[in-house]
Amino acid sequence: MCRREKELSVIVPSKCVRAARSSRRVVRVSQPAKLLAVVAGMAAFVVTGAGAAWCFPWSIDMYRGPAIQPLEVSPRVMPEGTLPVDTGSPPQSLEQATVKAHNPLKPTPENLAHGKEMFDNDCAPCHGENADGNGPVAHLQRAHGIQPKNLVTGVTKNLPDGYIYGYIRDGGFHMPAYADAMDSDERWDVVMYLRQLEAQASKAAPKTASK
Ligand code: HEC
Repeated sequence: MCRREKELSVIVPSKCVRAARSSRRVVRVSQPAKLLAVVAGMAAFVVTGAGAAWCFPWSIDMYRGPAIQPLEVSPRVMPEGTLPVDTGSPPQSLEQATVKAHNPLKPTPENLAHGKEMFDNDCAPCHGENADGNGPVAHLQRAHGIQPKNLVTGVTKNLPDGYIYGYIRDGGFHMPAYADAMDSDERWDVVMYLRQLEAQASKAAPKTASK
């Protein structure tokens, strides 16, 4: 009896150990037989319907989920005011806006006040409160050789409303676009306020304004 057998015999009688070993030898089966047993087992699994036990709801949830095909149900009704029905602007290039876009609003004190508020918040940092191109952050652009335009004199003053409207919407090379930040009416309010600033600038300095 080797040492291992001795150890085992303490807990298990050596007769049992020998029996276990010999029975292991007996149950040893060949490879093809094993394969056959597995296939037979699977067939039995399917035939006896034991397969159904596999289909817990969680395993087929994703197949049974509600599938809604496009246009199967009518679109949700949008909350009021979601779509521009009165003053929304159609898709237009800057060139088209320059020629076709016309201000539908009146320069009422409210509209001008709103235009001033938008201009002071969004435009004045670069263009300056008077739109003369000297806003508080203009020096940062100048450091890179960029100059926010003076909007109250020269070329800009004579550009059509539609161009300014389209420029605010699209932005420029070094100017942000405000298509998503201002709606159509707000852009027109800014245009009207800018016209007011231009008129004030020409009154204040008629000589430079005509340059
Ligand atoms: C980050 C700085 C910056 C801000 C903010 C900004 N601009 Fe400009 N803007 C510029 C620069 C720089 C130009 C010169 C063209 C270019 O580089 O896009 C310009 C050009 C323009 C022009 C074209 C002028 C021309 O003669 O062609 C208009 C109009 C204009 N800006 C209006 C506005 C208005 C209105 C706002 C606010 C809604 C605004 N800008 C906000 C920097 C700015």
